[in-house]
Amino acid sequence: MDRDDRPGGEGPLLELTRISKHFGGVRALDGVDLTVSAGEVVALIGDNGAGKSTLVKIMSGVESPDSGEIRVRGRAVRLDSPRAAAEAGIHTVFQDLSLCDNLDAVQNLFLGHERCGPSWTGRRVRRHVMERQAQQILESLSVKLRSLSAPVSELSGGQRQGIAICRALISDPAVVLLDEPTAALGVSQRGEVLDLVDRLREQGRGVVVISHDIKDVQRVADRIVALRLGSKVAEFARDGYAASDLVGAMTGAHERHDDVRSEESR
Ligand SMILES: Nc1ncnc2c1ncn2[C@@H]1O[C@H](COP(=O)(O)OP(=O)(O)OP(=O)(O)O)[C@@H](O)[C@H]1O
Ligand SMILES: [Mg+2]
Repeated sequence: MDRDDRPGGEGPLLELTRISKHFGGVRALDGVDLTVSAGEVVALIGDNGAGKSTLVKIMSGVESPDSGEIRVRGRAVRLDSPRAAAEAGIHTVFQDLSLCDNLDAVQNLFLGHERCGPSWTGRRVRRHVMERQAQQILESLSVKLRSLSAPVSELSGGQRQGIAICRALISDPAVVLLDEPTAALGVSQRGEVLDLVDRLREQGRGVVVISHDIKDVQRVADRIVALRLGSKVAEFARDGYAASDLVGAMTGAHERHDDVRSEESR
């Protein structure tokens, strides 16, 4: 479905304003803003401990912010559970993928959403219906599997990531969050997963990708938001930066330059 056909398609799909979160004495996020629009890929970058996963957990209803506002299509929402996030049209592919190794691709895709027959059949699971839908979804993202019925433990890392992303599409979410989708993948599989991200964009979804990899980010992102020690320190539009700008924002090198400059001007 074309997302622009949906009501409220003009503004951002998802808008976070001044989000803060503490864990005990640790300030994980401090007044962070983030927006994602339909057909846009936003990359979230930052060093270890920058607050990326915490922000994704807040958008996926796993953690609640201490303060700040979340709007979906302009309406204020409370994402106080993963179910609330799913109902708001936000689906997350977590880094561990949460696939069941002993189950096949179809079973993994429909886990918890099995298509069943009517009650007079004893609500038997309709495998053929799920296989047909699975094939459509896999094809929509060009994920190629030799067999739908092999356990997913036998698949490559890229194929597993593909299934985890396709599973996100079962509920036809407007926003897809991907936590480090290319980590632990080889070069060609990385390319396949980045192609998947392109297709999510073509389908008009809003995508937030967390990544440590500057090359991947440059390849896929329309906009890049850099977090450092819980704060948003920079935002870059596509082609509006050099790789060194991204590294500088992640490591805080540009802040140190600024310090030196202000010392020099004294
Ligand atoms: N459940 C928690 N309890 C206590 N502290 C936490 C918790 N979750 C995150 N933190 C702290 O919040 C800060 C941000 O962590 P977060 O996991 O969001 O970082 P990240 O950017 O995802 O890092 P990484 O790249 O290492 O995954 C860190 O200092 C972390 O130790
Ligand atoms: Mg993390």
